[in-house]
Amino acid sequence: MTGQANDRGVLNTTQEEKVGHEYEKLGAFYLGKEVDTQTGERTEDQVLYDSRDLTTHGVIIGMTGSGKTGLGVALLEEAAMDRIPVLAVDPKGDLTNLLLTFPGLEAADFRPWINEDAARQRGQDPDAYAAGQAELWRNGLKDWDQDGERIRRLRNQADFAIYTPGSEAGLPVSVLRSFDAPAPELIADADGFRERVQTAVTGLLGLLGLDTDPVRSREHILLSSILDDAWRKGRNLDLGALIQAIQQPPFTRLGVMELESVYPAKDRFALAMQLNALLASPGFQSWMTGEPLDIGAMLYTPEGKPRLTVFSIAHLGDAERMFFVTMLLSAVLGWMRGQSGTTSLRAIVYMDEIFGFFPPNANPPSKTPMLTLLKQARAFGVGMVLATQNPVDLDYKGLGNTGTWFIGRLQTERDKMRVLEAMDGAMAGSNPIPRQQLDRMISGLGSRVFLMHNVHRGAPTLMTTRWVMSYLAGPLTLTQIRTLMAPRKASVAAAAPALAGQPEATGTPGLLESRPILPTAIRQFFVPPFAAVEGLQYRPALLAAIDARYSSARHGVEETRHLQPVVELGEGPLAFSTDRATLVELPLDLLDVEPLANARFTPLPEEATNPRSYANWGRELVRWVQGTQPVTLYSSPAHKVVSRPDESERDFRMRLADLGHEARDRQADQLRKRYESRFRTLQERLRRAEQTVETRTAQSRQAKLNAGLTAAGAVLGALGGSQRGGAKGGLLGALLGGSATRATGAARSAGRAAQTRQGVAHAQETVEAVREQIEALEGDLQEELNRLHETADSQEALEEILVRPAMNAMTVRLTALAWLPYGQDATGAPVALWRPHDTAAG
Ligand SMILES: Nc1ncnc2c1ncn2[C@@H]1O[C@H](COP(=O)(O)OP(=O)(O)O)[C@@H](O)[C@H]1O
Ligand SMILES: [Mg+2]
Repeated sequence: MTGQANDRGVLNTTQEEKVGHEYEKLGAFYLGKEVDTQTGERTEDQVLYDSRDLTTHGVIIGMTGSGKTGLGVALLEEAAMDRIPVLAVDPKGDLTNLLLTFPGLEAADFRPWINEDAARQRGQDPDAYAAGQAELWRNGLKDWDQDGERIRRLRNQADFAIYTPGSEAGLPVSVLRSFDAPAPELIADADGFRERVQTAVTGLLGLLGLDTDPVRSREHILLSSILDDAWRKGRNLDLGALIQAIQQPPFTRLGVMELESVYPAKDRFALAMQLNALLASPGFQSWMTGEPLDIGAMLYTPEGKPRLTVFSIAHLGDAERMFFVTMLLSAVLGWMRGQSGTTSLRAIVYMDEIFGFFPPNANPPSKTPMLTLLKQARAFGVGMVLATQNPVDLDYKGLGNTGTWFIGRLQTERDKMRVLEAMDGAMAGSNPIPRQQLDRMISGLGSRVFLMHNVHRGAPTLMTTRWVMSYLAGPLTLTQIRTLMAPRKASVAAAAPALAGQPEATGTPGLLESRPILPTAIRQFFVPPFAAVEGLQYRPALLAAIDARYSSARHGVEETRHLQPVVELGEGPLAFSTDRATLVELPLDLLDVEPLANARFTPLPEEATNPRSYANWGRELVRWVQGTQPVTLYSSPAHKVVSRPDESERDFRMRLADLGHEARDRQADQLRKRYESRFRTLQERLRRAEQTVETRTAQSRQAKLNAGLTAAGAVLGALGGSQRGGAKGGLLGALLGGSATRATGAARSAGRAAQTRQGVAHAQETVEAVREQIEALEGDLQEELNRLHETADSQEALEEILVRPAMNAMTVRLTALAWLPYGQDATGAPVALWRPHDTAAG
């Protein structure tokens, strides 16, 4: 039968019903098939894991080669099929394989990614080996009821990408943007905020090679105080600003002590130099360039398509890996706390080899955020899945919160005992299966076979993982990752707007050695560069600060935004043009009033030396704000909700996706409930019909037996009669009569037998008919469920609502000359050392 999951969350299917992709179900992850515990053979019962169960997290434990990564890849593929976004941390490089998906399944598709060593070892030339791999995959998929068409769907459902922190081979990610101030809600949450500060500092000091104690080390206390202070004021700190703040902290006491006595200026200078050396080190630039570690953006594209984001960190050293994982987990925590609660699965965070990040007996920086995630992520629908070779790699405090266990082949008897103990502990006596039985089940597991225990369901199940759609080529090299992501980077570069407001690079003619002398009526600021460079030059720009009030009673908007447009001043006849305007986020009290030493200056255009120009430019910028900086609200006709003013399209679409998932789960439940009574009635009817078949069969057997007996009796009677015939005269009649009676009896019995046989056939027909009804009903249910799927997944067109500030609702608080810092790249082209504000956030 189909459609009804049994209590282990396993859906039973029979061979014939397998067609039509039974496993493509709402919120169900097709992970593999059940294994018969007696014979060890794979059965046809599909393991369809309910995605909601993953909100209580999962662990995958098994020795190298047991198939953990294969299982993880299958799980993440299912998530993508189901439009659940994924962040996957890849310490060994295997998860990059999730991008090796080829709907055509041709040898040529596989060729660039094969392991050439493996080919050589087999004595095959690479082309032949690739052909073999393609065939292996075609057959493997077919054996598990999948094909290229499913791969095509997989690729369409989500956006797949590889990020390589600390390297520009894959997509670059700028981790140090994580020193951006967290959202106000998080700052209000005292524990969460303290944790976030601690984590950032521990991570950063770890990167410097300082293994510090958060409570006692003065480096730790100083940096935490600086971050705490800046973030409470809503200020972002990049490394440059942090280095400055170390030398001149915005406070004079550290705790109860005088700063200068605990941490004198010359020691602080040493720490600042250490950070600066890190900043100036050749590879470091790659930690600062690229997309910010913005979790919302890593989970959904701006258009609202879910993403499967792989963070490949195999190329990094231990300290750098630790730093990245810590920053990532802490960013996930920060993001999560800004979300509303949900009972549906909203996102998955997967980590392939947890070794070293979450040990029971030590406290690396990654451990605190990981523990907190395991404790709190459930309420936010974030499922953590951790894979490891050895149960001792995992802290038991975290394991206690784990709802799903996949136990594969283990290396030693001792590992087995540890897993069993941990499971006992986690199930706290509620273990439905005696330990010896579990022991027996996990002994001698083959590769790709796992004991799946899901605390939301009944007893554990043995399963073997399905063939994965992704080509498991093994760890990819940075060069391969570069190739894989090259088309993607090209399109990013094409789509990224040129640094707004940046005039044509004109080389460096006529740079001034000192700042021009200007009337005092013109206020001047120097923007601190975010990285220290040789040959710093400043270019002049207009900086304005404008308060704009946005109000619309109809759309519930009532807020004031503090906007800071900046316009670089050109050299041509038109020094100023709002075409070059861009927004920046520069806290005015962090701007320098003196230039850095040894910098040079681009000459000022004539107009910029006249104070009156500034007032005019301010007015032009007010018009520019009105025209180009509306608060954009998005309205979803399907869900009948409108975005909040501070919500980007992506965030709003994420909310819609959550609403969609929730609605879908709810509707699926309702649908199932609606069908339940009909199923029950039919099942009852089926049971009765089957019973009838049984009783009729028994009756028919009895009737046949009777008929046989009667007929035999008649023959015997006839024989006996003839014997008796001689003994008494006139007995022929009696004999005939008697025999006739018996014969009639025999005929009647035979008739009854035929009748009951007919009865059996009839009852069987009823059984068939009821079965067909059940199947039809299941078909209906499935169809309705599929329709739900489609409505939930469709990329809805959103309506935009623009709220603009009225002209008289804007105030110009400041117009000033701002000097923007630039460096030069190897070719002498100017490189901006300041950042326009990311306006994607609305
Ligand atoms: N689901 C799967 N589909 C196809 N091949 C698999 C699957 N799982 C494992 N394999 C094969 O088995 C090998 C070892 O499995 P893997 O998942 O890498 O083990 P582990 O991560 O436990 O070391 C893989 O390289 C792959 O060739
Ligand atoms: Mg692995």
